[in-house]
Amino acid sequence: MGTRILVTGGTGYIGSHTVVELQNAGFDVVIIDNLSNSNKDVLDGIERITGIRPNFVEADCTDIVALRKLFQDYPGIKGIINFAASKAVGESVQKPLLYYRNNLNTLINLLELMPEFGVEGIVFSSSCTVYGEPDTNPVDESAPIKKATSPYGNTKQICEEIIQDAITAGNPYKSIILRYFNPVGAHPSAEIGELPNGVPQNLIPYLTQTAIGVRKELSVFGNDYNTPDGSCIRDFINVVDLAKAHVIAIKRMLENKDTDKVEIFNLGTGDGVSVLQLINTFEEATGVKVPHKIVGRREGDIEKVWADPVKANTVLGWKAEVPLADTMKSAWAWQLKLRERGIM
Ligand code: UD1
Repeated sequence: MGTRILVTGGTGYIGSHTVVELQNAGFDVVIIDNLSNSNKDVLDGIERITGIRPNFVEADCTDIVALRKLFQDYPGIKGIINFAASKAVGESVQKPLLYYRNNLNTLINLLELMPEFGVEGIVFSSSCTVYGEPDTNPVDESAPIKKATSPYGNTKQICEEIIQDAITAGNPYKSIILRYFNPVGAHPSAEIGELPNGVPQNLIPYLTQTAIGVRKELSVFGNDYNTPDGSCIRDFINVVDLAKAHVIAIKRMLENKDTDKVEIFNLGTGDGVSVLQLINTFEEATGVKVPHKIVGRREGDIEKVWADPVKANTVLGWKAEVPLADTMKSAWAWQLKLRERGIM
């Protein structure tokens, strides 16, 4: 049996793709998920891809009793990847306490239990949102942390600080903090992908649902930004590329004795792509039109942000590889699979 890793939020979008890569690399995975934004069918998808059904515990990470029982039932967990968190920016403005409770308590519970059960390290899912509207692009890890524009963003900043403080205080574990840019696409098998509950808030699921006719029209939030075509610019990173970075991070954290106790890496491609360019890339890659119209700006949106991924490239030896057109094809293949299964 390989090294045992706990993946919180492991049936979610990025979590499920990471479980696949961990299992392919020989790790023994235990998933905890409360299924608040995913469902159990994801386990079937993971099993079809890897031939292995991951251990699964349906529970909430804010429930420390359930979490302690998990560590007792699955002894020998060496590392944690913490994906479990609420992530809708708009909802976090409406329900800040839910976001603080969920995202902060989950992390605190994990950090409290780690020494008790001999867990040596935790990889934390953070976000480029910690940079706010950056002064310059591309953004590297030394860019200033700006005041968060939403409770969601604030939870990411606070969680990063909690990890730093806990380790500075002498707790016997390490951490790698990964700041994701905009993860998109699906596994090339189309067995797993992004499937948010309800109306999608993020660009790609809204786009693919529009392309297949579930939604009438995609709203492009603003074309009066200070960018070449007026729409916002992001760094769209393929979800499988992103998942692979977690395997490298886990190995580095657990196997390399000489690394710093806390390390931070940007995970992005290094290319800024506008919302309108992305729609165009999707249409060209798939041959499918996306009905869309320009509407007003969305409150809280960043104008432009893309990564300087050189630190991840050199220190982790990781690089985004999948071309954006292929990523768009994978997102479309996943949407078609959902249709085939009668889900969407
Ligand atoms: C946001 C968060 C990010 C978080 C991610 C996960 C900020 C600044 N960013 O990313 O930290 O990890 O959500 O949920 O807090 N767009 C449209 N029409 C749509 C949907 C989106 O035009 O229907 C545009 C947006 O205005 C934006 C771009 O597409 O310019 C990407 O939006 P989205 O996918 O929601 O991600 P972010 O807001 O970049």
